[in-house]
Amino acid sequence: METLEGRTAVVTGGASGMGRAFADRFARAGMRVVVADIEDGPRDAAVADIRATGAEAIGVRCDVARAEDHEAVLAAAVDAFGAVNVVCLNAGVGGANGPSWQLSVDDWSWTLGVNLWGVIHGIRTFVPHLLTHGDGHVVTTASIAGHTSSPWGAPYNVSKHGVATLSETLFHELKRSGTAGIGVTCLCPGFVATNILSSDRNRPGGRPERSAPADGEGGRDSGTGRFIDVVKRMIENGKPAPEVADLVHDAVLTDQFWLFTDEVWDEPIARRHAEIAQRLPPTVPAPRRP
Ligand SMILES: NC(=O)c1ccc[n+]([C@@H]2O[C@H](COP(=O)([O-])OP(=O)(O)OC[C@H]3O[C@@H](n4cnc5c(N)ncnc54)[C@H](O)[C@@H]3O)[C@@H](O)[C@H]2O)c1
Repeated sequence: METLEGRTAVVTGGASGMGRAFADRFARAGMRVVVADIEDGPRDAAVADIRATGAEAIGVRCDVARAEDHEAVLAAAVDAFGAVNVVCLNAGVGGANGPSWQLSVDDWSWTLGVNLWGVIHGIRTFVPHLLTHGDGHVVTTASIAGHTSSPWGAPYNVSKHGVATLSETLFHELKRSGTAGIGVTCLCPGFVATNILSSDRNRPGGRPERSAPADGEGGRDSGTGRFIDVVKRMIENGKPAPEVADLVHDAVLTDQFWLFTDEVWDEPIARRHAEIAQRLPPTVPAPRRP
């Protein structure tokens, strides 16, 4: 897109973390913003803060795991602002951790429902709308976990690999449909300092009783426990979300497809591709300084 001024952005998961930063950044760029989120208080606060800057914003309650909620967001956005141009399919949860075989059906359904179906529903709802006016951009939030397969986070890894391939597929389809005006960006963040560590605040039915790692040993010394501790530290010291928002803003304007937030994962991702090409068994991915 050549300019964002006067256009409308929808941001799912726009009440916290990266989504909140995207909403703020787009508002500063002169966009009207629709904050779509399941959490009422932070969503209302985001809208009030954006309006206080003089920008236009509305909030819509939305559970991205429900197709009909996306339809409601689109209807509210069109009603308020006439059309949608930029759609950030960003809402996501960290999901449950543990060996794949020990995670419950509910653990899997929750993570895949929000992280993967949330993007599928979003594409099914918003892309036909973008095609009606031909001036738009879809930003999906995948993850480094869409390019690697760390142990003890299978639902998250599966969801993010799904988002990455869905985004790539969408890119090819739009290019071949003769609609040059619709761009796609697949955002693949490394660690970013957000509220993702408390994702189960939004889990249907509340936080599950099991809080200890479910890997057969239990406790912080288990494989899952050590993994959670490392991830927690990395996220707490992660990149500030506003820096990621600047990258997203620029990617929409320059029509950049793959968007990574740092280089420390380049080597593990390249190594994975080399292992596949050479038919070698996978090694555990770990961030490396270039
Ligand atoms: N923080 C990281 O290090 C990191 C790294 C890679 C990818 N990501 C991805 O970034 C995206 C944003 O997460 P974040 O890190 O900003 O976390 P966050 O918890 O700060 O924000 C997530 C937002 O999604 C909302 N949400 C959760 N479930 C929802 C649902 N069912 N329907 C609608 N909204 C819902 C939450 O209310 C919250 O506002 C997610 O897709 C996440 O997987 C995060």
